[in-house]
Amino acid sequence: MDRFVKNFIIVSIVYLGISSLLGVFMLWNQSLMSLKFVHSHLNMLGWVSMMIYGVGYHILPRFAGRALKYPKMGEVQFWTANIGLVGMLTFYTLDAVSHGQSFTVMTVIFGAVEVLSISLFFYNMLATLLPKPAN
Ligand code: HEM
Ligand code: HEM
Repeated sequence: MDRFVKNFIIVSIVYLGISSLLGVFMLWNQSLMSLKFVHSHLNMLGWVSMMIYGVGYHILPRFAGRALKYPKMGEVQFWTANIGLVGMLTFYTLDAVSHGQSFTVMTVIFGAVEVLSISLFFYNMLATLLPKPAN
């Protein structure tokens, strides 16, 4: 198993732990409901997507009987996915808790890094799976 594949699976489980804790705190203290976006995206982009990236990189090329076309791109996607997610949610949280100061631009910049990571996965997977086998 490639290192970045293992890392995707490990961080996805860590995000599940953090988001579930935040979910319980949101139930406990209604003022934390302003962080619902943080909870839902820790889950959807952290837990669910990163688990799918990890399992997908390992299994989908094997189903097709070939190797992942650009493993280095997978490594870069691991870092962009995590930097994008943590940055986007950190600045979203600062925006929600700080009165007056705006962190919207930084939230958007890190959101764009997350979109970049999604496009790397999209490209690598299609470049691996779509070409016809040579024989
Ligand atoms: C112990 C585990 C969890 C707790 C305590 C929890 C708690 C919550 C709470 C309190 C909300 C806000 C609901 C509202 O707007 O009234 C919420 C929303 C949400 N949660 Fe969780 N959650 C947990 C796990 C999960 C998991 C594992 C996922 C995804 C795989 C998830 C996905 C979502 C999503 C997408 C929303 C937004 C839903 C919407 O806006 O309608 N949650 N959760
Ligand atoms: C770069 C990636 C993404 C960005 C920038 C993004 C952004 C957003 C924004 C701005 C909202 C509205 C939040 C609000 O009403 O306050 C939202 C809601 C939502 N998104 Fe995403 N999203 C992304 C990826 C995803 C993915 C991959 C999933 C699912 C796999 C997802 C699931 C949801 C759900 C369930 C909601 C409604 C719950 C909520 O309001 O928090 N998002 N998203």
